[in-house]
Formats: sequence, structure tokens, C-alpha cells
Amino acid sequence: MKIAILGYGTIGKGVFQIACENPHLQVVKILEREERFDQNYLDLFTSNVDEIVNNQEIELVVEVLGGYTFAEDAIEKCLKAGKHVVTANKEVIAIDIENLLALAKTNNVSLAYEASVGGGIPIIKNLKEIKKVNKISKITGILNGTTNYILTKMFEGNTFEEALLDAQKKGFAESDPTADLEGYDMMRKIAILSDLAFDTYIDINQIPQKGIKEISKEVVDEAKKNNQVIKFVCSAKLEENKLSVEVKPEYFPNNHFFASVNNEFNAVILETYPNDELIFIGKGAGSLPTSSAIIADIIDIKDNLYLENYQNINKYEINK
Ligand code: HSE
Repeated sequence: MKIAILGYGTIGKGVFQIACENPHLQVVKILEREERFDQNYLDLFTSNVDEIVNNQEIELVVEVLGGYTFAEDAIEKCLKAGKHVVTANKEVIAIDIENLLALAKTNNVSLAYEASVGGGIPIIKNLKEIKKVNKISKITGILNGTTNYILTKMFEGNTFEEALLDAQKKGFAESDPTADLEGYDMMRKIAILSDLAFDTYIDINQIPQKGIKEISKEVVDEAKKNNQVIKFVCSAKLEENKLSVEVKPEYFPNNHFFASVNNEFNAVILETYPNDELIFIGKGAGSLPTSSAIIADIIDIKDNLYLENYQNINKYEINK
């Protein structure tokens, strides 16, 4: 399958590396808007997205640009041009999923977004599988690798600033880490999971959020004294037709499962009926885990295995 990659940052490079290792995939174009072209593969690079949109031999486009406006526009153009799209873009999916899925349907192509939530954890696919039989009543997640890394390191004695710098160097943080630290990134991720789990559409502006900036060394020391950890979590709970969604730092006893989820690892706990509690854990940020989720989506589409089963059929009162 001939594919193109939009974006050549941390994730784009990982996708290119893993795609090159797969004999069934051929990367034929890479968009790098700032022209930071890789000299070893100069013929693959372009700074003009239309060269990809209008290239008839490209069947599938991977969007790993980040940001909203340009990325959303590029995804729309690719879908309209009859190309499948695989994206890791949480912002675009959380805000525009209805429109993009409709566009994909009209143009008879797939839009896949496994990598937008939980990095390498196949949580979207598992949710689809679980939904075949189960009713999901609650999702709780540690879904931001950067802040989980920072909190882990602070509990190990590092300062907030040291830990943030380290997370940025390792390629976990957003280009502007405000989205990680204030919880906007997790608002998008819990909205994406809730949309799918509850067949609804959540307006992310309705999700209350509190960031981690107030967690000082003193707060961490006090928690340690009480045999607790602090984790930055998101949750969505459906009860009597009302959906309560929130993002905030929370205390957990040292023997809680979340206390063992450290560094850039993410975790999701699902409360379901009849399958009861289900737990997922894996690396939630970083080039290769995220690329693994992207390549898996590509292979599903190539093999005609991609099943879209999200429907916006339920209207819930949120946080009322
Ligand atoms: N900045 C995000 C995180 C990247 O740290 O989780 C993965 O979505």
C-alpha cells in the first residue's frame, strides 16, 4: 500500500521508521511544512500538502502534524480526495469527529484514530470489542504521559521544572506543554473515549478541568507521609442518563493500581456490565508506541478490517 505522512516530528519519524520495516507499506511522500527535509530521503519530501492530496497513487495518508486548523483542513482534503486517513490528532478528533466520519463515509474511505488516545494501548479497538456485548458505565484514565512522567519524577525527588524538561527531551510533551499541564490534552482524550463508549458527542468545553501546576514539593511530601500518590486523571461516568466528565489531580493510596502506573505509562479502567472491571496499561506517549498504534490502523485498513462503529445517537446531560 502506498502511503504519505503529513508531519515529520517525533511521531512522523517513528511512523516512517516502522513503515519502512513493513514489506507491505511504501511511504511515497512526506510533508514537512518548514522544509526540514531529511537529506537521505530528499525525493520523498514536499512542503506542499496539495502534492499529496492530488497524488492518485497515494491510498492512505497519516496525519501527525498536531495543531488544529491546518491539520483538520488537510484531513478533510484527503478524505474528499478518496484517501483513507489515520491520525493521532486528539484535538481534531475530539472537536470534529462527527464531520470527519461523515466525510469518510460519503467518500467511501476510513478514518482511524487509535493513536489519539493512550499512545500504544489499543484502547479504541478494545472499546469497540467490549461494546459488542457490554454496557460501559465508567471510564477512568491516566491519559497524559507527560504529566504522569512529571508526577512520577516529583515523587522520586525531582523538581517540576527538571521533570518537565526531561519529558520534553524524551518527546512526550506537546509543542506547547500547557495542553498537558492544564489538562486540555486529557479533556480531548476522555471526550474521544466517551464519544465511542457512550455513542454520543461531547462538547469538550463542557468538561471541568484542573491542572497540576499547584502540586508543589510540599504537597508531594505530605502525600508521601500519608502513603499516597497523586495522579492526574480523567473520568467519565454515565448514571441515570447523565454523564459526569472531569479532569483533575487526585490522591490514591499506595496500594491502588494507579499508584503503579509510572513515568509515561497510561492506564484505563473500564467499569462494564456484564464483564465487570477491565484494565489496560501501556506507554501513552513517545515516538514508537504511538507509531505502533498508527501502523496497526494502517494494516487494518489495508486488510479491510477497519470497522467504524461510532454513532452519535445518544444525547446526555453533561455535568449537570
Ligand atoms: N503530550 C501527550 C502526552 C502525547 O504526554 O500524553 C500523547 O498524546
